[in-house]
Amino acid sequence: MKGTDLICAAAFLAAVFLSGGPAVAGDPEAGRQKALKCQTCHGLDGVSKIPDAPHIGGQNEYYLIKSLKAYKTGQRKDEMMNFIVSELSDEDIADLAAYFASLEPKNQ
Ligand code: HEC
Repeated sequence: MKGTDLICAAAFLAAVFLSGGPAVAGDPEAGRQKALKCQTCHGLDGVSKIPDAPHIGGQNEYYLIKSLKAYKTGQRKDEMMNFIVSELSDEDIADLAAYFASLEPKNQ
């Protein structure tokens, strides 16, 4: 079972919870385009290309949104990520999270 309905429900709840307003559902296709910015470190397949960066393919969508927002507000600090997310809108974050969450996780 893919659990697509569950993922949609989780994304909806995450968007409502995080924005406090109407849900903006992430678009994985748009996210794939935006992920070109992330590929040097996290890979377009979500499998990390540098030892420093975590694998994010198949990661939970809610967690991805939460992490990206935490880097944006400075609650979570990392020189590279703080810089990268400073250019992302809430819609970009939702799209990127939808894209990376849709990938197969790396098993090992
Ligand atoms: C220059 C390399 C680099 C680029 C480009 C980059 N990242 Fe990262 N990313 C990192 C590093 C390093 C970390 C780990 C930082 C830390 O320790 O908090 C990280 C952490 C993350 C995390 C947290 C993962 C976790 O398990 O907590 C997410 C989500 C993430 N990046 C998403 C993205 C997205 C989306 C993009 C593109 C818009 C992107 N990153 C571009 C290097 C990069």
